[in-house]
Amino acid sequence: MKYRPSLSLAAAALFLLEPWVQAQLSGSVGPTTSRAAKAAKKVCNIMNYGGVASATTDNSAAITAAWNACKGGGEVYIPSGSYGLSSWVTLSGGSGVSINLEGVIYRITSATAGGTMISVSSTTDFEFYSGNSKGAIQGYGYLLNASDPRLVRLTQVTNFSFHDIALVDAPEFSLVMDTCSNGEVYNSIVRAGSEGGLDGVDVWGQNIWIHDIEVTNKDECVTVKSPASNILVESIFCNWSGGSAMGSLGANTDISNIYYRNVYSQNCNQMYMIKSWGGSGTVKNVKLENFWGHSNAYTLDLNAYWTSMTQAPGDGVSYQNITFTGWKGTNSNGAQRGSIQVLCPSAVPCTGITISDVNIWTESGSTEKEICENAYGTGGCLRAGSGGTYTTTVTRTTASNYAIQTMPNEIKAWGLGTEIPIPAIPTSFFPGLRPISALMAASSNGGGATPTTAGPTPTTTSAGTGGGVQSEYGQCGGSGYSGPTACAAPYACSTLNPYYAQCL
Ligand SMILES: *[C@@H]1O[C@H](CO)[C@@H](O)[C@H](O)[C@H]1NC(C)=O
Ligand SMILES: *[C@@H]1O[C@H](CO)[C@@H](O)[C@H](O)[C@H]1NC(C)=O
Ligand SMILES: *[C@@H]1O[C@H](CO)[C@@H](O)[C@H](O)[C@H]1NC(C)=O
Ligand SMILES: *[C@@H]1O[C@H](CO)[C@@H](O)[C@H](O)[C@H]1NC(C)=O
Repeated sequence: MKYRPSLSLAAAALFLLEPWVQAQLSGSVGPTTSRAAKAAKKVCNIMNYGGVASATTDNSAAITAAWNACKGGGEVYIPSGSYGLSSWVTLSGGSGVSINLEGVIYRITSATAGGTMISVSSTTDFEFYSGNSKGAIQGYGYLLNASDPRLVRLTQVTNFSFHDIALVDAPEFSLVMDTCSNGEVYNSIVRAGSEGGLDGVDVWGQNIWIHDIEVTNKDECVTVKSPASNILVESIFCNWSGGSAMGSLGANTDISNIYYRNVYSQNCNQMYMIKSWGGSGTVKNVKLENFWGHSNAYTLDLNAYWTSMTQAPGDGVSYQNITFTGWKGTNSNGAQRGSIQVLCPSAVPCTGITISDVNIWTESGSTEKEICENAYGTGGCLRAGSGGTYTTTVTRTTASNYAIQTMPNEIKAWGLGTEIPIPAIPTSFFPGLRPISALMAASSNGGGATPTTAGPTPTTTSAGTGGGVQSEYGQCGGSGYSGPTACAAPYACSTLNPYYAQCL
């Protein structure tokens, strides 16, 4: 596929706003003006603001100065190369601004301050991306105890996207979205040490679409916290991680309309965990669909007595209308932790829980345990109705339809004492599925300030890729599509929505 230099700004703007992908989103997500329009207004190359392409020189002043010059409309450009950071960058008050990180930012290891290496706040119409899909932030966490700093935090950022960036070896969390809205996060990889406290992607806020993300660590993969509504998470690869979750939830929890689908987890603590202890408020209208995995400790796990957190004031969070469907694969030891654990607060039983088409088998022994406590609904060990306390344990001795396709190159976690190399952004995040949007480096997307015309051809994975080439207006991609994905010159494959991409 080729870069499309003739695409007009008006045409580009047409494809900019992602459609309302699912009812789970409440409106458009992503920046409201294109990369090209921002760059056409002004480009603030950090090299013109005192930047030095050296991994051991502090570039924080240059990045801050470039932001200040472009934050009213423009693109902050960090070209290919290595840039050190020893004091942290706080960027705020932007509107119509992008950051194109084509180079790599390295934490200068003598700097041990806490905080966040790059923090963006109170900003709208914002895009943080890498035009060559090679931008990365290297935190060298292996040289520190897990105490500081975090890599990227977005606070009260609206109408934004974050994509094509590798977040590597965070000393603490990798990407946090705090009270953000109308966002899209995609085509990115997080690789951190195998230890608690090194969260991958944490999000709270509203109307956010997170897709095509790979996380390696030993804590949160992609996790929703409170308050949150209208969050869609899909095509996630928790590759030796803690696993994806919701929580920890405490007093006044307010979470609704959350939809996860196509989540693949291997060697995680769980395939999905909803966690609280005490607390109050509500979690409702949640769907967790098409979870595949193997070698995980827990599998489907709602635990309202999660004693790893401090008990929060209140009788318990009220869990209502939560559906688990289409779960397949194996877990490490079905007799020990089991495939289904739904432990609801005795004072606030869960209602409207649905467990359907959950087919998990054990990798050791020949039984799978299911435990339900104060949980009402249909499927698994749940009871029908809505009131009263109970505990039941069911032992299954058979399973069917649990076989899954695995991901290539599933290998081990990172220890804590070794440097984590900067990985390439993957080209698949769920067995057999291609990313919903092509990588910047691989597609007609081009960069902002300096479009990359000769990016590497994406390595195709097991996604159904028929041979041949599509002509103008032909389909070239989309979830479940298995025909040709290349377009005849001069057309390029443009993703219109997760289900349909077209040669335009
Ligand atoms: C965000 O985008 C929506 C359209 O998608 C627009 O209505 C809203 O005003 C924008 N918000 C800001 C703060 O610009
Ligand atoms: C990490 O913590 C341990 C124990 O608290 C300490 O001995 C060690 O020096 C610390 N390492 C670094 C790199 O700070
Ligand atoms: C239950 O949640 C789903 C979303 O997962 C939603 O579509 C449905 O309307 C909810 N049902 C009720 C009764 O609120
Ligand atoms: C999974 O993670 C391991 C460890 O970080 C890595 O070596 C491997 O390449 C990853 N697999 C894929 C498919 O990205």
